[in-house]
Amino acid sequence: MKVVAIVASPRRDGNTADMTNYALKTLRTKGVETNAYNLFDFKITPCGVKCNVECYEHVSPSGRICPVDNEDDLLKLIEIIKDVDGVILATPCYGFDVPAHLKAYLERSELKEYDGKVVGIIAIASLGGIHLASTITSNIIHNSNPFIAGWAIITRFYPRKGQAIKEENSRKSVEKLAEKMYFALHGKE
Ligand SMILES: Cc1cc2nc3c(=O)[nH]c(=O)nc-3n(C[C@H](O)[C@H](O)[C@H](O)COP(=O)(O)O)c2cc1C
Repeated sequence: MKVVAIVASPRRDGNTADMTNYALKTLRTKGVETNAYNLFDFKITPCGVKCNVECYEHVSPSGRICPVDNEDDLLKLIEIIKDVDGVILATPCYGFDVPAHLKAYLERSELKEYDGKVVGIIAIASLGGIHLASTITSNIIHNSNPFIAGWAIITRFYPRKGQAIKEENSRKSVEKLAEKMYFALHGKE
């Protein structure tokens, strides 16, 4: 069983990364193979910046034709997700929602790569955490048929690196999420 985490924070060693690594460590102790990527290492152009939303007018039988797909890293990310059983999407809160870079990914991808995947969400937000989970789940559920195993919404303000991982409650939330994902992954077998 393979789980990949996509961390949508530009701070590669920040709270979102710490909590994600903790979730992955919990999964590894149960024998799950894991890997983590930072979304900011992938160039993803938001819809409408380098096109005139032609995909909405020219839909081919095989799906959307995006004039930008060959110019950035979206397809690389889609291939990574196609290859695994489960995905953790981890995000800090920026302006009561997901960071613009994650929003760009949700806009650009048709999210069909999530079909049948076990999905867990980690949201780091003192204010707006449920909104983050809702942004992610509503996009994914609308576009494919995943198994949303759960979410860990860490509802404290953590402006400095290393703060979230120090708190037992935060670690427990993430552990619970990893356990739910593990249970769901077994259900798939
Ligand atoms: C541009 C920006 C906007 C933010 N907006 C919010 C917000 O609306 N609500 C909130 O709870 N935290 C907000 N935060 C705080 C971050 O979500 C929080 O510090 C988080 O721990 C950052 O995760 P990181 O350590 O992985 O970068 C914001 C932080 C930044 C940099």
